[in-house]
Amino acid sequence: MARQPKSLFRCESCGAEAPKWAGQCADCGAWNTLVEVPTGAASGTGRGGRRSPSAAPRTWQLQEVSTAEDPRHPTGLAELDRVLGGGLVPGSVILLGGDPGIGKSTLLLQTLASLAADHRVLYVTGEESLSQVTLRARRLGVEGQDVRLLAETGVERILDAAAAESPGVLVIDSIQTMMSEEVQSAPGGVAQVRESASRLVRYAKDHDVALFLVGHVTKEGTLAGPRVLEHMVDTVVYFEGDGSSRWRMVRAIKNRFGAVNELGVFAMGDRGLKPVANPSAIFLSRHEEPVAGSIILVTREGTRPLLVEIQALVDDSALSNPRRVALGLEQNRLSMLLAVLHRHAGVAMQDQDVYVNAVGGVRIAETAADLAVLGACISSFRDRPLPTDLVVFGEVGLAGEIRPVPNGEERLNEAAKHGFTRAIVPRANAPRRAIEGMTVEPVGRLAEVLDLL
Ligand code: TYD
Ligand code: MG
Repeated sequence: MARQPKSLFRCESCGAEAPKWAGQCADCGAWNTLVEVPTGAASGTGRGGRRSPSAAPRTWQLQEVSTAEDPRHPTGLAELDRVLGGGLVPGSVILLGGDPGIGKSTLLLQTLASLAADHRVLYVTGEESLSQVTLRARRLGVEGQDVRLLAETGVERILDAAAAESPGVLVIDSIQTMMSEEVQSAPGGVAQVRESASRLVRYAKDHDVALFLVGHVTKEGTLAGPRVLEHMVDTVVYFEGDGSSRWRMVRAIKNRFGAVNELGVFAMGDRGLKPVANPSAIFLSRHEEPVAGSIILVTREGTRPLLVEIQALVDDSALSNPRRVALGLEQNRLSMLLAVLHRHAGVAMQDQDVYVNAVGGVRIAETAADLAVLGACISSFRDRPLPTDLVVFGEVGLAGEIRPVPNGEERLNEAAKHGFTRAIVPRANAPRRAIEGMTVEPVGRLAEVLDLL
């Protein structure tokens, strides 16, 4: 007879189960995340007896369910609304991640101050003292707003305060500092973060409170603590880009109430974050005269086109394995593009170091950047500047073909609006009607691009 083991070990990070304790989870590789759980609770199978089938829950037809639009509250920061999908939804939980010092606390304090006019808002700080928060509010010029503050790290006490204040919007800064009495381990640990978050999320759902959780990011760029945090919340928003420039970019990577990949852009100034309504031109460095290795890409982040300068440096390599470095772009894609360039256009860069960079710290994930990357590399390799009024976009295939990308015409219009007069685009993206002031060169093969450049 097979005997049930007395207990199981479950990974607090990914939920994988193991029969024996180990220091590292075999599934997700996280350290010290296995905790013992009684088998009864392990998977819900096995014991527990037979249930009577009498009390079957009512099911619903799609039509029966009321479909009132989610009410949305504008946050007062247009770029944040854009990322959230059009405003804040009551009862939704938003996880805001980002490097230290990038502006998470600033953004949320500003948001609360602006929401305070119409809502009761509560800002819970587990990292800073009340006077630090007040000083920041003064710097931001919002100290006159009715933002309630609480310096506390105990989740139970926070929930007591919330029950007394009944806020409509609640900010927890940060979830890594929170601890629940239910869990024995230290704050910041996987078990604590998970339990604290789950209690706060339950409170938000039960009371229709919009909840922001601030999350720290590890050196690898992922959220510190359990991955499950991302599953528990409705929306995951990250600050991206480097903290050294004044531009701050915020992107939704998960959103149950809107589109993902939408990019919000802010400028950090001495009075906090200011939305940048038309960020198109901030990713251009606008050289005085044409320089080799620079080209302008029309990319599309979320629902709006952006002009981004792509720069390349191609130089003789002293290494047997020349370097391929991509900043803000995909490294593997760069290697692939260089291989296509060699095979289908006969331009060999095997003995060259190749660096490419998207100006302004913006991260570009779409394949429409291919043509720009190759254009910049060729320009640098030959040390021949490209015209400054030229824009490009288009995907490059392994067979050396230039493939179309979505929303070609919209991209061309945006470029024309900013004074660009020439464009090299995939043949299928050539506009049906001419765009005023813009000469469009449609291309089908990589060789044609080289001829034009
Ligand atoms: P902060 O919002 O505390 O970042 P986080 O909570 O993500 O750690 O700090 C943002 C940075 O911005 C900080 O280094 C100081 C700076 N800052 C400004 O430049 N202007 C301002 O008005 C404020 C409030 C902060
Ligand atoms: Mg902070």
